[in-house]
Amino acid sequence: MTARIERPLSPHLSTYRVTLTMALSIIHRATGIALYFGTLLLAWWLIAAASGPGAYANVQAFTGSIIGKLILFGYTWSLLHHLCSGIRYFFWDLGYGFKPNEREALTWGALIAGISLTVLVWIIAYTVGGGR
Ligand code: HEM
Repeated sequence: MTARIERPLSPHLSTYRVTLTMALSIIHRATGIALYFGTLLLAWWLIAAASGPGAYANVQAFTGSIIGKLILFGYTWSLLHHLCSGIRYFFWDLGYGFKPNEREALTWGALIAGISLTVLVWIIAYTVGGGR
């Protein structure tokens, strides 16, 4: 039997102090995963539109329900938050925004922009499209 070697482990998540940038990093990954499911919804919508009125009526029944609207609202936020948060990564990739105050400003900016754009899109959807 081979002896068990005690290899060094990287610190677990609970070892770190929770900061805004850390929380947003996790949220960025979570919204990225949510977007895969949102893309399936988008594909369902497009395929239904191409298939005919019956299939499209099924999508409308879903998007017209409270649960459907909540899921769509979550998808809108996931997409817009992930987009704004992703642009923040591009600043970092270019070598900018690493000072503590800059990091915080970029992160708050991404959070607030994602929420604001989501609300704006839904206001436009309701005023132009009547929320249907
Ligand atoms: C439907 C579209 C999208 C999907 C399904 C998606 C999915 C994901 C997922 C799952 C991750 C996490 C990867 C990991 O942590 O290992 C990720 C990371 C990332 N996404 Fe997206 N994404 C989408 C759109 C976008 C858009 C529009 C941007 C534009 C800004 C973007 C920018 C990024 C960046 C910069 C990262 C890397 C963050 C890091 O370094 O940790 N993504 N994406």
